[in-house]
Amino acid sequence: MISAFGFLSILLALGNPAFSKLSPKEYDQHSKDQSNVLRYLGGTGPFVEATGYGIPTDVPFECSIDQAHLFMRHGERYPTKGTGKSLEELLTRLQNATVDAHIGPLAFVDDYDFFVHNTSWYEHETYTGAYAGSANAFKLGSLLRLRYNHLVNTSTITPVFTAGQERVYNTAKAFGQGFFFGGQAGEYKMVVLPETATQGANSLTNTEACVNFDGLYSDSILENVTLSYKEIEAARLNKLSPGLNITADDVYTMAGYCGFELDVAGTSKFCDALSMESLIGFGYDKDLSYYYSNGPGYNMSYVSGGVYANATATLLKQGPESAGTLFFSFSHDNDLLRYVTALGLYDHEEELSLDEIEFRRSFKSSEIVPMGGRLITERLSCYNTTSQKNDVYVRLILNDQIVPVPDCISGPSYSCPLEEFVDLIEGSVIDYPAACNLNSSYPQALTFYWDWKTNDYPTLPDST
Ligand SMILES: *[C@@H]1O[C@H](CO)[C@@H](O)[C@H](O)[C@H]1NC(C)=O
Ligand SMILES: *[C@@H]1O[C@H](CO)[C@@H](O)[C@H](O)[C@H]1NC(C)=O
Ligand SMILES: *[C@@H]1O[C@H](CO)[C@@H](O)[C@H](O)[C@H]1NC(C)=O
Ligand SMILES: *[C@@H]1O[C@H](CO)[C@@H](O)[C@H](O)[C@H]1NC(C)=O
Ligand SMILES: *[C@@H]1O[C@H](CO)[C@@H](O)[C@H](O)[C@H]1NC(C)=O
Ligand SMILES: *[C@@H]1O[C@H](CO)[C@@H](O)[C@H](O)[C@H]1NC(C)=O
Ligand SMILES: *[C@@H]1O[C@H](CO)[C@@H](O)[C@H](O)[C@H]1NC(C)=O
Ligand SMILES: *[C@@H]1O[C@H](CO)[C@@H](O)[C@H](O)[C@H]1NC(C)=O
Ligand SMILES: *[C@@H]1O[C@H](CO)[C@@H](O)[C@H](O)[C@H]1NC(C)=O
Repeated sequence: MISAFGFLSILLALGNPAFSKLSPKEYDQHSKDQSNVLRYLGGTGPFVEATGYGIPTDVPFECSIDQAHLFMRHGERYPTKGTGKSLEELLTRLQNATVDAHIGPLAFVDDYDFFVHNTSWYEHETYTGAYAGSANAFKLGSLLRLRYNHLVNTSTITPVFTAGQERVYNTAKAFGQGFFFGGQAGEYKMVVLPETATQGANSLTNTEACVNFDGLYSDSILENVTLSYKEIEAARLNKLSPGLNITADDVYTMAGYCGFELDVAGTSKFCDALSMESLIGFGYDKDLSYYYSNGPGYNMSYVSGGVYANATATLLKQGPESAGTLFFSFSHDNDLLRYVTALGLYDHEEELSLDEIEFRRSFKSSEIVPMGGRLITERLSCYNTTSQKNDVYVRLILNDQIVPVPDCISGPSYSCPLEEFVDLIEGSVIDYPAACNLNSSYPQALTFYWDWKTNDYPTLPDST
């Protein structure tokens, strides 16, 4: 029998990383993943890797990548002007409160400055702190260069496609600086798709031209949300910090404050002040809003996203010899979300409940469109020892984790045979010009992946 002391020392040894080599079992027995605040910031907060399904991102046995596509949301950014104003207003109100002493989780506001020191940075990419959008895009460029070095043709120019807004352009540029070392490791060219209706379908923000896309579609649905996390958290904070009069809406603002302050400064005391329960509620609130405005909860999402899916399927079908090897595209959260929606990744589950958190969902906006969120599509050429020929497969990497294509996993490492993938997309794509009531004088199809060399696209961001 083990003595009490012996048992204690085993416990101490297990808890101490220095002793971990004594344990023959190297698999972690603790799951910290779901207590990460970044998983509940729903598109306001820094990039976080998706949880995934454990499928390795290594190139599968007997395969090589022969074409790759990146479709990415811009990196970490400052709040928009409107959001920034509400964050600053909240802070001023807390600091201004006529209470004897600030106590409780929000006491820090007494000795604290607003994290946006110069409001002319609103709407822009962040460039400071541990989660700087500029640094993350540069880093991703370096990582993908290592992975796709064999796809770079140093005797040609590689295009970097970007929507015209400055923060998207700046992300694309920082990515290019990483991937091509600013031109020292291969030539690249910025190809800008202005964020205007006149671009029609030939755009990375194609809802601009989609007359039938209702940007307010979700409003009437979200009016009926009855989650209670905000009221519960406001009551907790008011009890701990009497006199501050925190409202339910303030709780929502604080959670956004947490996200944006992390994007700019790398840390946020507002994240610490909020309970994990309230952050989980906020995350779901954000999911509802994405789901019913640009996700599976709005049928026009499939129309818009289908254009990107369809174009990518065409490039995959044409293959590297005919179409080229590398396609980098930069846009916004809503475009990325409509794209993954059109791929059918969330079609297997029921509509999200407005009344209580559906914990068993796979639709989580922080897993899809965090700042710097990205979908990579890889074309794999795999040697078949029986036929002694190469077969072609497709796989999706969403926020750095493999996502199996629904109902299409028969290839190496659960990849999807190219023909099946193309059939899935072509079978589901909706006629964008018709469904959008597109002005017939605007481009009716996405062509920039093919005509960027011959068409005169801008190389600088849209003027603001
Ligand atoms: C701060 O307090 C001053 C003086 O009481 C008041 O005039 C001002 O409106 C307050 N600001 C906010 C944001 O509450
Ligand atoms: C909080 O609410 C109480 C009661 O309505 C009010 O007397 C007090 O002035 C409020 N405090 C602040 C800081 O707004
Ligand atoms: C704020 O930033 C803008 C743009 O970088 C700059 O022109 C301006 O001088 C800055 N203002 C202050 C007060 O630093
Ligand atoms: C690189 O591009 C040039 C010009 O388009 C082409 O002739 C050549 O075959 C390409 N090389 C490779 C390795 O793809
Ligand atoms: C919201 O709820 C009201 C009252 O139950 C109902 O009449 C309305 O149809 C709901 N709206 C939506 C968009 O579901
Ligand atoms: C979307 O749903 C609406 C309402 O049910 C319907 O009128 C419309 O035709 C649908 N649009 C598409 C593209 O399926
Ligand atoms: C889908 O791609 C084909 C080319 O393969 C193109 O002709 C068609 O216009 C595209 N459809 C949509 C809706 O984007
Ligand atoms: C390999 O090729 C054989 C003969 O064409 C075929 O029957 C088999 O399905 C292929 N294997 C895979 C994994 O595709
Ligand atoms: C379609 O676009 C043309 C050219 O920009 C414009 O003159 C016309 O008013 C537009 N039509 C509609 C119905 O918006």
